[in-house]
Amino acid sequence: MSAKLTRVRGTISLQGNKPPHIVYNKQKLPPQKSNENKMPPLGEHVTVLLESAVEYLNIKPSGIYIDTTLGRGGHSALILKQLGPEGRLIAIDKDPTAIEAAQQLFGHDKRVEITHGSFTLLGSLVAERGLTGQINGILMDLGISSPQVDDATRGFSFMKEGPLDMRMDTTQGITAAQWLAEVKEQELADALWMYGDERFSRRIACTICQQREVEPLTTTLQLAELVKRIYPRPKPSQRKRIHPATRTFQAIRIIINQELDDLSIALQQAVNVLALEGRLVVISFHSLEDRIVKRFMRDKARGKQFPADLPILDCDLGRQLQRIDGIITPSDEEVENNPRARSAVMRVAEKIA
Ligand SMILES: C[S@@+](CC[C@H](N)C(=O)[O-])C[C@H]1O[C@@H](n2cnc3c(N)ncnc32)[C@H](O)[C@@H]1O
Repeated sequence: MSAKLTRVRGTISLQGNKPPHIVYNKQKLPPQKSNENKMPPLGEHVTVLLESAVEYLNIKPSGIYIDTTLGRGGHSALILKQLGPEGRLIAIDKDPTAIEAAQQLFGHDKRVEITHGSFTLLGSLVAERGLTGQINGILMDLGISSPQVDDATRGFSFMKEGPLDMRMDTTQGITAAQWLAEVKEQELADALWMYGDERFSRRIACTICQQREVEPLTTTLQLAELVKRIYPRPKPSQRKRIHPATRTFQAIRIIINQELDDLSIALQQAVNVLALEGRLVVISFHSLEDRIVKRFMRDKARGKQFPADLPILDCDLGRQLQRIDGIITPSDEEVENNPRARSAVMRVAEKIA
């Protein structure tokens, strides 16, 4: 690491940088503060945990790194700053607009290869280049970027009128409108419950299915208004509660983009392609993602499970990863300046075999 790490009462400070929080054995994720008025300007993405994520990648100037969630290139740009002329960065994103923006930013840089597609192709992409086992660091900054949310035509925002699309990769797959037109009521209710933790899941699913008989659900505000009608009016003490459509939109987005399945697939591939001592750095934005990452890293760090009384050698366990620190969250200052960072949780592991 270029900066020296020092631990101070449960937090870690990167010399010269703003300290992120490290929370050991914390079961509950950080509370969400409401400071929406401090959002970055429309269409701009403020990279979350920028310095600390790159710090944890432990950049070697001639190493090979993969940014699997390029977005607007914030992390990639800092990785490139630390890479020497022999270094290499492969940057992936599902979203064609992210790829276009990256061509402008990094198209001239010979160290960078920009690839459109899902990070589930990580294994084959690396194998095709003959680099399996040689990757020094992989970054996953999950979820959607601010430009995706801010662009009403993408359909991610329940605050702006737009088509109910919600695909990160607009070149393939079905839109949210198409899915809502076909999905069975029970399946919809289950999805809202499982992926949105939506307590009114059955009522919302029933209303959507009744409403689509009257007219197709094709726009974001149509869906947002419909969900809002189901929710009881907020009491004065609940004025600052999240928008009633938040959980419904999150659940549908997860389904449309197969976010959780893709994450599980990509994590395994990441471990396969990493070099020894290579780092895997994952930033999650909700507990469903973080639970997958946490369990994956724990299982790979623990190795195979045998009955306690069996005489097992350490090498029989097949441990592949060692976890580095606990959960890392943005500093109060970062959350203050970028409210979209408030739910971020970062986990880091290093390949050991
Ligand atoms: C939070 S943003 C990343 C922001 C980026 N780190 C930056 O500094 O600008 C997440 C990005 O990951 C992309 N993404 C999400 N899931 C993906 C997947 N399965 N494969 C490839 N890209 C994905 C999204 O399209 C989005 O651009």
